[in-house]
Amino acid sequence: MKRKILITGAGGQLGQEIRFLADGFHDFDFDFATSNELDITRPGMVEGWFHKRSYFACINCAAYTAVDQAESEPAAVYAVNRDGAGYLASVCRKAGTYLLHLSTDYVYHSQQNRPFTEEDETAPKGVYARSKAAGEKLVLAAGGTVIRTSWLYSSFGKNFVKTMLRLGRERKALSVVADQVGTPTWARDLARDLLTVLMKLNNKELSPENLQGVFNYSNEGVASWYDFALAIFELRNMKVKVYPVDSSQFPTAAERPPFSLMSKARFRQQFGIELPHWRISLKNCLLDGV
Ligand SMILES: NC(=O)c1ccc[n+]([C@@H]2O[C@H](COP(=O)([O-])OP(=O)(O)OC[C@H]3O[C@@H](n4cnc5c(N)ncnc54)[C@H](OP(=O)(O)O)[C@@H]3O)[C@@H](O)[C@H]2O)c1
Repeated sequence: MKRKILITGAGGQLGQEIRFLADGFHDFDFDFATSNELDITRPGMVEGWFHKRSYFACINCAAYTAVDQAESEPAAVYAVNRDGAGYLASVCRKAGTYLLHLSTDYVYHSQQNRPFTEEDETAPKGVYARSKAAGEKLVLAAGGTVIRTSWLYSSFGKNFVKTMLRLGRERKALSVVADQVGTPTWARDLARDLLTVLMKLNNKELSPENLQGVFNYSNEGVASWYDFALAIFELRNMKVKVYPVDSSQFPTAAERPPFSLMSKARFRQQFGIELPHWRISLKNCLLDGV
């Protein structure tokens, strides 16, 4: 019999990538719940949803992700990223449902020059990052799994790749921030690897203990936004001049971490999954059509 999986926040980038891949995961039947269908900030709605249905696992893609806007509406941000995550985690625990909850590299905001491991102290700055860190705590306390990812892009939704392609069509030259360093992540890789983890769990290749705690997840390699922009234009063969600039030239409401490179060793070793380099994934995403 097929196992049921719930995807919350199904209308977002990651949710849509999971939907795109779902047919390839034959062991699972999926329920895709958009924010209208299942609002995770409403505990009664979350409980009611689980009362009627039984799930093997839930991937929580629901989040308030407008990082700058978040600074001016903290209550709305915390309602989703902390409290909503917490309700979902406690309902999943009661129902015996595995929860994979998405978090962010923005929780790492301290000065260092080596990749962050899951054991490193978090130091979130700004409403979005703090709310995600608070959500992680509730999820972990309820026995859920936290996946910290970074710089997501996809053919779905709004993201840096789509913005660069649009600006590159409109302008001959662009300035892009070169003093923020991390790793771009194709949301399709993340979607496939999360489903693979659940498949391995279902096949008993992994035990529930393997899923405990926090896992960093991004593509491999390292880039600044400037490097990322150059690669987008090069791979698309677009003649756009790109100038590296400091982030001080693009003031934003929320401060971004200057360095958020993450070690993925734990994810690779625990789940036996290799992660593609960001340039290879970017090429595949662009070939796939953005
Ligand atoms: N995007 C990135 O670069 C990035 C980087 C690091 C980590 N992450 C994390 O990765 C996860 C997925 O990100 P994403 O890029 O796929 O985000 P996204 O495209 O912004 O999607 C988030 C989804 O959550 C939904 N949502 C918002 N409030 C909700 C609520 N109360 N109940 C149910 N659903 C709600 C949104 O629906 P509406 O549109 O209808 O509001 C949207 O469909 C998030 O946890 C995010 O924090 C993202």
